[in-house]
Amino acid sequence: MPYFPKDPTAPPVEKAPVNVWDLPTRLFHWILVLLVVTSFVTANIGGNAMQYHVWSGETILALLLFRLIWGFIGSGTVRFTLFVRGPAAAWRYARSLLGPDAERHLGHNPLGGWSIVAMLLALGFQAVSGLFATDDIATQGPLYPLVSDATAARVTDLHQFNAGVIITLVCLHIVAILFYLLVKKENLVKPMITGHKLWQGPLDPKMTDVQPSWLALIMAAVCIAGIFYWLR
Ligand code: HEM
Ligand code: HEM
Repeated sequence: MPYFPKDPTAPPVEKAPVNVWDLPTRLFHWILVLLVVTSFVTANIGGNAMQYHVWSGETILALLLFRLIWGFIGSGTVRFTLFVRGPAAAWRYARSLLGPDAERHLGHNPLGGWSIVAMLLALGFQAVSGLFATDDIATQGPLYPLVSDATAARVTDLHQFNAGVIITLVCLHIVAILFYLLVKKENLVKPMITGHKLWQGPLDPKMTDVQPSWLALIMAAVCIAGIFYWLR
């Protein structure tokens, strides 16, 4: 069971497991991974698989909407106001990274925080542009009829170009995770599965705040139902 210090600011004597990623965020992450892979595979297969591409892309849109809301009302480590830090903090962290006294952060570090924002924005752009895209054969995004042919063609070009941006960001994401594992000897993947991380030292109590999963479940259900209702 995850351990929760009574006084989160009190330094534990030895390393103890502390909650880091709440269940909704972990589910969001692994379902997102599955759907992004599905979107690429179905786009490459084409033909009848494009219907699954549209469904998978629309579900990603709903998940991103959920993540946006959860980023304001969710648990401490996933709140944008707590993990998105200024360039000075990112630079300070980057400089400390290879030294012996590297800063440790319970959730996203100040540099990683920006890579997460970049990934969420790129995925958001991809899902929204897909709504207007066309393969000029049988598949169109549900909002394609709202724009001119020229606009749809331009948005489709951007949809294709941004797919490369997403692949680049995901590769960087995986390289960063491998860097932590092999160079820093820190396994970041395990906490994304179990939800907790071994921690020693004081903690910001705001970071250890955990919001109930049922709240996330309601929000996610509303987002998925809302997006699919709106687009049908
Ligand atoms: C399509 C591929 C992927 C996408 C789009 C993706 C996206 C993301 C996003 C958006 C987050 C932020 C989570 C949040 O705050 O909501 C994240 C975090 C994370 N992802 Fe991925 N991910 C992908 C693949 C992977 C893979 C394959 C792994 C494991 C090998 C992985 C491991 C992690 C870990 C460990 C974190 C937490 C990083 C930290 O400690 O700051 N991801 N990912
Ligand atoms: C984040 C989610 C998405 C990803 C990663 C993604 C990825 C891709 C990729 C890789 C292609 C092939 C581009 C190429 O031909 O080079 C594609 C094409 C397409 N996508 Fe998406 N897509 C996403 C969301 C959506 C959504 C939500 C829709 C519509 C509801 C959509 C509709 C289309 C259409 C109609 C095409 C065909 C355009 C063409 O022939 O190039 N996509 N998508």
